[in-house]
Amino acid sequence: MENELAPENLIVNAFGGSVDLLYRHSNFEASVASATEMEKGEWWINRVNVHRAYRGNGYGSKLVQLLVKTIKDCGGKEVTAAPGGYGEDPKKQYNFYYKNGFVDDNARQLLVIRLTPVVEDQDAV
Ligand SMILES: CC(C)(COP(=O)(O)OP(=O)(O)OC[C@H]1O[C@@H](n2cnc3c(N)ncnc32)[C@H](O)[C@@H]1OP(=O)(O)O)[C@@H](O)C(=O)NCCC(=O)NCCS
Repeated sequence: MENELAPENLIVNAFGGSVDLLYRHSNFEASVASATEMEKGEWWINRVNVHRAYRGNGYGSKLVQLLVKTIKDCGGKEVTAAPGGYGEDPKKQYNFYYKNGFVDDNARQLLVIRLTPVVEDQDAV
């Protein structure tokens, strides 16, 4: 596969406390990732779903990394994921998030990434 997500195939919607990414592999095949700001700065991943035919090729990682970066750019402080569902092996889902920088949040039995908010350039006018 290509090294990066092809920009012409990628749609990014980020507004109103919501980030939605859609990657169109072809007219009829797509992969998605989305998250919502549930409380100020606290984002939850709604879903990451790579089209079955394209799994294991890095698309999910690229989408989730872009999702986290976009959330950071929106001032997000943390991103929580609750692996499970989709009829998938939960161990594989956990591995996917670990590979992408999420760590166990033992108190909540969830996975989380804590973000350092983007600091505005103080000298900027
Ligand atoms: C989990 C999912 C998003 C991963 O996307 P992907 O594009 O296949 O993942 P990547 O290629 O970027 O990364 C692969 C890693 O994800 C994990 N993984 C989880 N499910 C996988 C699957 N069905 N196929 C391949 N890798 C999978 C593996 O740990 C793998 O690591 P490895 O390559 O070292 O073995 C994708 O398999 C999917 O959409 N599954 C169904 C929906 C789902 O379970 N979403 C997560 C909800 S919590």
